[in-house]
Amino acid sequence: MSMLQIRNLNKSYGNVKVLKDISLSVEKGDVAAILGPSGSGKTTLLRCMNFLEKADSGSMVFDGTEYDLGHIKKNQIAQIRKKTAFVFQNYNLFANKTALGNVTLGLTSARKMPKEEAREKGLVLLDKVGLKDLAGSFPVQLSGGQQQRVAIARALATDPEIIYFDEPTSALDPELIGEVLEVMKALAKEGMTMLVVTHEMNFAEHVSNKIIFMSDGIILEENSSREFFEHPREERTREFIRRIRRDS
Ligand SMILES: Nc1ncnc2c1ncn2[C@@H]1O[C@H](COP(=O)(O)OP(=O)(O)OP(=O)(O)O)[C@@H](O)[C@H]1O
Ligand SMILES: [Mg+2]
Repeated sequence: MSMLQIRNLNKSYGNVKVLKDISLSVEKGDVAAILGPSGSGKTTLLRCMNFLEKADSGSMVFDGTEYDLGHIKKNQIAQIRKKTAFVFQNYNLFANKTALGNVTLGLTSARKMPKEEAREKGLVLLDKVGLKDLAGSFPVQLSGGQQQRVAIARALATDPEIIYFDEPTSALDPELIGEVLEVMKALAKEGMTMLVVTHEMNFAEHVSNKIIFMSDGIILEENSSREFFEHPREERTREFIRRIRRDS
């Protein structure tokens, strides 16, 4: 059974339908990349899946429980959020908290973990993303790549079953992208389940095992990463791959 399924998700802004009957599934250990042109609905889909936006209709099956996305209740959202985490394009760290403070906040506040225990866990996670020595630094003192690694450590703190990433490297200077992708690659190797909106084709082709290609609010092609890049089914997909290969 899939860890996560979305069935027939619809979302409009005013009269504009931005997500049309989206269905997808994610298995445990999948690293699924969501690709597609600007405006195709990638961010909106992730935001609906994490309830930062409310879908108009559709359902989600998470860990065997089915939820009606059009009528989801607060306690159900809380239940799902306990098992998921989100990494944003712009890191979204608290400026008045240190790297360690950002990582442990969700543990000490929402989970009521004792401070000392949270601190120890936070340091282990910062070490994992290569930032143990900068635990006491504030976001303003860190590079974009370092801030994003703190955000990943924060995402890991609550032991999520899946992490959603929305273009985690696209706000970074080119020389800082690699360090963030390396951390994500290491997580993938450990079996972390991830759903990643990205324009990093190298990551999509060589780290992801599954590609979800969106175009104009629909999923045009959902395929294994290898099939997607070697034998794309759709003409629009072929065109997209050609264009990317030409630009890189
Ligand atoms: N809050 C909003 N209100 C109205 N329209 C919106 C809103 N957010 C997104 N849209 C529209 O929904 C469509 C999908 O946007 P979305 O941000 O999901 O695309 P995307 O695939 O993430 O694009 P990009 O690659 O540029 O990040 C676009 O046409 C966008 O203009
Ligand atoms: Mg987007």
